Amino acid sequence: MACFAETELLALSPVQRDSSSRLEATSSDSAKHAKETVENFFMTQSNHNDFVPGMSEIAREAGSLLIGYFQQHVKVEYKGDADLVTIADRKSEILIRERIKARWPSHDVLGEEQGLVDTGSDYRWYVDPLDGTTNFAHGFPVFCVSLGLERKNRLVAGVVYDPTRDEMFAAEQGSGAYLNQQRIQVSKIANLSESLVATGFPSHKRHKNPNIHFYHQITLRTHGVRRAGSAALDLCCVASGRFDAFWEFNLNPWDTAAGVLMVEEAGGKVSDFKGGAFQLNSRETLASNGLLHPALLHEFSQIFEGRGLEPLPDIQEYRKKGI
Ligand code: IPD
Ligand code: CA
Ligand code: CA
Repeated sequence: MACFAETELLALSPVQRDSSSRLEATSSDSAKHAKETVENFFMTQSNHNDFVPGMSEIAREAGSLLIGYFQQHVKVEYKGDADLVTIADRKSEILIRERIKARWPSHDVLGEEQGLVDTGSDYRWYVDPLDGTTNFAHGFPVFCVSLGLERKNRLVAGVVYDPTRDEMFAAEQGSGAYLNQQRIQVSKIANLSESLVATGFPSHKRHKNPNIHFYHQITLRTHGVRRAGSAALDLCCVASGRFDAFWEFNLNPWDTAAGVLMVEEAGGKVSDFKGGAFQLNSRETLASNGLLHPALLHEFSQIFEGRGLEPLPDIQEYRKKGI
């Protein structure tokens, strides 16, 4: 069986496609049917392994574009009170969309800066062209490009590229997770009291976000809680065992799509805060090495119910007596 890239297949005439791939001739079919046929061809003829090399190439190219802007200290604009955006976010998304379109013209794309292009494809890309914009804007070198790919509501592939460390995280559904082509796995830490975990805070409606309570309580029960400023990299750190768990409220699908697949393929678990199945639009993300999941779910339910909480230290007392 001849093997074609999807773009090559689309370029063939219906007759060529028929004889090359045994697909039915599509000349009399609707455009939608033709597109579905092509997508189904790729589902049945490939095990998704075709996606990661192309995705990595795109993420690497976008990453080097980001590094170019990072060195120039670009102007910052505001999408909201503390919600920053730069020319680097926008140019990176333009580049990524162009590259996706060139290779996979029929796929839908949801990107943070330009929104959704929906043509009814079974495939949807989730694009964060620069995850960690606040870090980027302040010259703090923790940011990445995150590309997740879903087919029929199932994550099938993802890459997260950190151009500051030249680290490419990649995962395919059912094929494991990799860092620079080396297989990665979640940690084996089984006690919360011995864990290093991470969280993040959103940049909009900050006053309504209850996470500071979680930050306080979980800090007191672990080796510490890191807030590095890139949710996609936080998830990759769980996948590679650098962190034992990560949680955040109100993330968007472009923040999580690639990283969630990375954690799952590295043997970890991702759920909502009650242990229910994680959904890309669920607004609650709890990722762990799996071993810590029950303990974290217990802590979360205690915090939500206001039980067993360590009180915040009194600032006046501290002023008077010190620690
Ligand atoms: C943000 C980062 C951050 C998280 C915020 C996200 P952005 O994404 O992932 O770590 O705490 O909730 O919005 O805006 O830099 O792409
Ligand atoms: Ca983001
Ligand atoms: Ca972003």
